[in-house]
Amino acid sequence: MTKINTICCIGAGYVGGPTMAVIAQKCPEIKVVVVDINAERIAAWQTDDLPIYEPGLLEVVKEARGRNLFFSTDIDAAIEEAQMIFMSVNTPTKTYGLGKGRAADLKFVELSARRIAEVSKTDKIVVEKSTLPVRTAESIKTILSEYKNGVKFQVLSNPEFLAEGTAVNDLHYPDRVLIGGDQTPGGLEAIEALTDIYAHWVPREKIIQTRLWSSELSKLTANAFLAQRISSINSISALCEVTGADVDEVAYAIGTDSRIGPKFLKASVGFGGSCFQKDILNLVYLSEYFGLPEVAAYWDQVIIMNDYQKKRFARNIIHSLFNTVSGKKIALLGWAFKKDTNDTRESAAIYVADDLLSDLAEVSVYDPQVPASAMYADLNYLQTRPAAENKEMLKVHSDAYEACKDAHAIAIITEWDEFKTLDWQKIFDNMKKPAFLFDGRNILDHKQLKNMGFKIKAIGKGED
Ligand code: UDX
Ligand code: UDX
Repeated sequence: MTKINTICCIGAGYVGGPTMAVIAQKCPEIKVVVVDINAERIAAWQTDDLPIYEPGLLEVVKEARGRNLFFSTDIDAAIEEAQMIFMSVNTPTKTYGLGKGRAADLKFVELSARRIAEVSKTDKIVVEKSTLPVRTAESIKTILSEYKNGVKFQVLSNPEFLAEGTAVNDLHYPDRVLIGGDQTPGGLEAIEALTDIYAHWVPREKIIQTRLWSSELSKLTANAFLAQRISSINSISALCEVTGADVDEVAYAIGTDSRIGPKFLKASVGFGGSCFQKDILNLVYLSEYFGLPEVAAYWDQVIIMNDYQKKRFARNIIHSLFNTVSGKKIALLGWAFKKDTNDTRESAAIYVADDLLSDLAEVSVYDPQVPASAMYADLNYLQTRPAAENKEMLKVHSDAYEACKDAHAIAIITEWDEFKTLDWQKIFDNMKKPAFLFDGRNILDHKQLKNMGFKIKAIGKGED
């Protein structure tokens, strides 16, 4: 059986970086080279100021870096040397042409596959790590087999289930590892080779082996189910607000039913992140493509509910501030799509800010990890107004107290722990009155804040 000594990973992002760091940490005899076209990112991986913020990651990187973990921009050399190549390039939703707004853009995956085919001189196992539409492995195989230089390729699907902010723990203690491959002797051998790597630290019974397409579809399905739970509880949060029920009580009550379970039932201003929306859009696109419009419409509703939740939150702010926010300062606490990450992809903050800016509010933001440049880039991407106007109307602060000073309202967008321990009395004293607080995550002690004088509106909490 193939014993793997050298691995290459194309894509040094949120998935490729942490995954390879942990493989290198747990398999000291395997040389792991992470490559990327972005030289700046590669340079950052070589410092103690890593390009992504992820608790515990620096310790893992430091343990393996220079020993058997390397970061490089020499993609061809790393491909040539490796027996196994992971593809962790990004697969954004297409912004043009056929499938625009829904299908995944596989440009980077295809480019990487072509590069692998051109450069390889020895047999390789190619592992899809990026989330991809079902049957992408088939396209990768087709591309690889077109190059007739006698090299044999096996393609595996090994989807990532790590969540940002807890990536290191998720990689160390996964619920399961999924490996899909061809059910041929060569395919099964490749599956075993990858199983052996994970078996360095993951119990074998947690390593699930499937056929290729089942593995690909499982990733989309897992994310669709998780996102569906959030949209379901968010739909109930709207009902709670008008009937006076408390969504956290409802979530707790239903979560104690072991058939439902307590996780992913936290009502919020809407889910974000690079995966949920993209994967569901993918599922919708696939269902339509294969002539299943009812299936497509079913999953599309999860996205519709999420968009509604973000809009509803912004509308609530405007409505509560006497139907006008024009010229009023509104502070957003948090810009990242969840706590403990600097990732802002599809964050609800972008859409809430954009809606408030369209109503001519002065928006001020504080996030402990997200730089101002990322916030402006996120807003500019929407193209609602010229970049110069975004710059003028959105102010970014490096301190929560400054962001909230003289504000008419504060909106909690991200559940950063440090927001719980702010001096809320001081914040209240420095705000315009009446001082409104919109809690999009229900992380604060509303009773205490009400006693201080805040007017509180929280997701899924009826008036009392
Ligand atoms: C991941 C997954 O791979 C994707 O499928 C998932 O749905 C979203 O998250 P992620 O690691 O988060 O991607 O993306 P990103 O942080 O953007 O990293 C991708 C890296 O690939 C970037 O650093 C980019 O420079 C690099 N890249 C891209 C290449 O090296 N070569 C290319 O051709 C394209
Ligand atoms: C997700 C999946 O969890 C992971 O398995 C997959 O590999 C990648 O996509 P990630 O997007 O990093 O991970 O974070 P996750 O913790 O799933 O949160 C996604 C979004 O849902 C965040 O905006 C989060 O705040 C929100 N969320 C999550 C809720 O609003 N309520 C919840 O109960 C849980």
